[in-house]
Amino acid sequence: MAGDENKDVTYAGYLRLGTLLDQQRPLSGGDSADELMFIVAHQTCELWFKVVLRELTAVRDSVAGGVIEPALLALRRVAAVQHVLLDEIAVLESMQPGGFLAFRDLLGSASGYESVQYREIEFLAGAKDAATIDPTAGRQPGGREALEHRYAEPSVWDAAVSLLVARGLAADSSDAGVRAAVTAVFADPVRDFPVWQLLRGLLEFDAGEAIWRSRHTQMAELMIGRKPGTGGSSGVGYLASRVDLRYFPVLWDAASLL
Ligand code: HEM
Repeated sequence: MAGDENKDVTYAGYLRLGTLLDQQRPLSGGDSADELMFIVAHQTCELWFKVVLRELTAVRDSVAGGVIEPALLALRRVAAVQHVLLDEIAVLESMQPGGFLAFRDLLGSASGYESVQYREIEFLAGAKDAATIDPTAGRQPGGREALEHRYAEPSVWDAAVSLLVARGLAADSSDAGVRAAVTAVFADPVRDFPVWQLLRGLLEFDAGEAIWRSRHTQMAELMIGRKPGTGGSSGVGYLASRVDLRYFPVLWDAASLL
């Protein structure tokens, strides 16, 4: 089946299944079905966040280089991953609040709020908030450095703005210039169709992220009602305040300006 030079590659070895399948350690002991699912859901979300970060980096780099097509392909993959991440929430909702309560206290102050990769996605897209670096990453080795790097590097939005200027669609990178350019692209999609596809793809990515935040908020309410979060926030109140976050607000504003 395979070439001789690869005859030692096995399914389990290639995927490091021995290590991977040994990384689920429920704190409530070995036999909690809910906690096993809870751990796997978080681990798989983090794996998909890793893929999203890789693809968004490709989007940023190809757009910065003035080439749109690879960015469109990367955004297609991101959209497919976003569907998987939404389905993860349905899996979590198969747990009953009592099942979660049975092990919730064991989590201490650990929380999804501390997901460095999730915050990296925000920063890479362009929604950078330095105030989140410490509370998110303070307890993960290497986390602060990763976020500081994302904070300093150009974002996907920075690359999109330079593209608009480079193609002569925006006179300059000022807020007014970019708003006018985006509104013109959305007003007439076929005039520069590749740019329209790119901006539309970014808008749909942004919408997908907001939908995930909304579904995650609703799921959290089903699980914990109005109790505070393990991370110390007000819980659902905090999450609801984040649903309206937009990575690319200028793209959303265009519909009002048309
Ligand atoms: C029973 C399941 C879950 C519940 C009840 C829940 C609840 C919460 C709550 C209450 C917060 C607010 C911070 C806090 O005070 O803790 C939060 C934040 C967060 N959670 Fe979850 N969560 C669940 C599953 C997940 C999963 C599977 C992921 C995937 C990685 C995730 C990712 C996040 C992220 C990224 C944040 C930060 C959101 C932000 O700052 O906008 N959560 N979660």
